[in-house]
Amino acid sequence: MYSQGLIGVDSSTTESEEFLSLFQARVDREEKIEPNDPMPEGYRRTLVRQIGQHAHSEIVGMLPEGNWITRAPTLRRKIALLAKVQDEGGHGLYLYSAAETLGVSREQMTEELLSGKAKYSSIFNYPTLTWADIGAIGWLVDGAAIMNQIPLCRCSYGPYARAMIRVCKEESFHQRQGYEIMMALARGSDEQKEMAQDALNRWWWPSLMMFGPHDGESAHGEQSMAWKIKRFSNDELRQKFITATVPQAEFIGLTVPDPDLKFNAETGLYEHGEIDWVEFKAVVSGNGRMNRDRIRDRKQAHDDGAWVREAALAHAAKRAASRTVPQEAAE
Ligand SMILES: [Fe+2]
Ligand SMILES: [Fe+2]
Repeated sequence: MYSQGLIGVDSSTTESEEFLSLFQARVDREEKIEPNDPMPEGYRRTLVRQIGQHAHSEIVGMLPEGNWITRAPTLRRKIALLAKVQDEGGHGLYLYSAAETLGVSREQMTEELLSGKAKYSSIFNYPTLTWADIGAIGWLVDGAAIMNQIPLCRCSYGPYARAMIRVCKEESFHQRQGYEIMMALARGSDEQKEMAQDALNRWWWPSLMMFGPHDGESAHGEQSMAWKIKRFSNDELRQKFITATVPQAEFIGLTVPDPDLKFNAETGLYEHGEIDWVEFKAVVSGNGRMNRDRIRDRKQAHDDGAWVREAALAHAAKRAASRTVPQEAAE
């Protein structure tokens, strides 16, 4: 029944009520959906959007940290940061490949990012002002990414789920290198401790915003849960993150900048104060402090890399041509 490939699937079949309920039953049985399986157009579009945004976030996320590679305070810190930023590049490539299995091209996705049509995580539109920001990003931003991505290892779409398994292993190294930077600063001089606290103050709320709007206001939430693309709601993930992170801040003597934060002994979860959604919307719609710089730098990097793409294509064409010669000769 599912032997028909993605290419040439008649949409009247994949949108019929009968097909949708068979597809849902398959998802409910925890079967993985693979690239050549017929799927509802909404499922495909949701994944293209989500995986594309995820890939763009990995790539744009290299910019605020790459900014500090040459200024890392020691050789060891430089090596760790370099490895982390390279990992993020790898995550982006993995994810673009996963999205390509859904019939969208890498060129198309790149064009959408550079034209401002595609979104990426708004966290990367904040500036990295001090070395402590590199600690805060690893600890909080990669920490929030892990909360989001661990459940994605069980996503119903096979290529995305499998990509996430490796990505999550690397993210946990990122989180630890960030926390270790914060720990060193928090145990250092008064100025260093202050720098760590200041970074926490600036990155805390944007990190909470990474989980997206409250459940009631999330546009794609319910359908994504039904299709098992998502396993937990935005608010559930946000609370898990806060509950894991607050004791880590306390352990190194830093204060989470939320006067309304309180522990609910009944649920075992922390309850947080009001998130500034006006700021969130402003950054998402392009008015964050660094939105324009990020896209400008990304465009520049893309243009600078044009010769690499051209050389790779020329090399591939040459190899393909040399492979065909012996065959022709044999005829
Ligand atoms: Fe990553
Ligand atoms: Fe990461």
